[in-house]
Amino acid sequence: MRLIRKIDEMRKYVRERKNKKLIGFVPTMGYLHEGHLSLIRKARRECDEVIVSIFVNPTQFGRGEDYHSYPRDLKRDIALSEKEKVDVIFAPSVEEMYPEGYSTFVQVEGRLSSVLEGASRPGHFRGVCTVLVKLFNIINPDISFFGEKDFQQALIVKKMVEDLNIDTRIVLLPTVREEDGLAMSSRNSYFNEEERKAAIILYRSLKKAKEWIDQGERNSSRIIQKMKDFIAKEPLARIDYIAIVDSKSLEEVEQVERGNLIALAVYIGKVRLIDNMRV
Ligand code: PAF
Repeated sequence: MRLIRKIDEMRKYVRERKNKKLIGFVPTMGYLHEGHLSLIRKARRECDEVIVSIFVNPTQFGRGEDYHSYPRDLKRDIALSEKEKVDVIFAPSVEEMYPEGYSTFVQVEGRLSSVLEGASRPGHFRGVCTVLVKLFNIINPDISFFGEKDFQQALIVKKMVEDLNIDTRIVLLPTVREEDGLAMSSRNSYFNEEERKAAIILYRSLKKAKEWIDQGERNSSRIIQKMKDFIAKEPLARIDYIAIVDSKSLEEVEQVERGNLIALAVYIGKVRLIDNMRV
């Protein structure tokens, strides 16, 4: 018998038993779009085995949110994944993941989880972390791929992986956008034509903010106010939040500096969209 006392040694031991293959993992809620496909392609390039999970996770949706109406089309997702040479799709049922009596949840405490999306969607990140820990435990991936559109989620997942010694490397890839700049999202499928046009206001307001900063404006409150005024011109848009934060701590900043994150959540009609941009 071998006695292992060090985390790294334990990891090495486990890894050697993974058939010497590098496993890449792309967690998704399905209804795949180019954003997901960019993660899958990166995983395909970097790993021997690519596993994609498709699971609309009920624990990350609040009451009154769109869990039931969230778009689902497994057939289409399978076809798209096949084209990208994904090795495995893991698509468990809700009962498989959360059987009767399920009662364990994972929460990253503190600021990262309680501001921005955490403030607007209480319990959301607890659901995200819980399902991801389960998926990491089931799949045991070497590398896990996430998109920058959900920047706060990625920060929280990184923190959780570090705190809980989960043996996966988190890789973050840039947001993929439609031609007009709208960030790809499964929720874009909810839009009618008019709303789809209005949805571009998020990206345009971010670009405007960047322009103001490039012109020398550094005061966060003034930039946020100007973004609010700009978005107010779009009648279908209703702002949930706009914030300029440090991109590691998510602390709000008074004076904008290089590397800060501008993040916003805006309703277009009934659909809530998020987007962000690094300065
Ligand atoms: O970003 C998502 O699609 C989800 O939050 C994730 C990471 C798949 C967890 O359900």
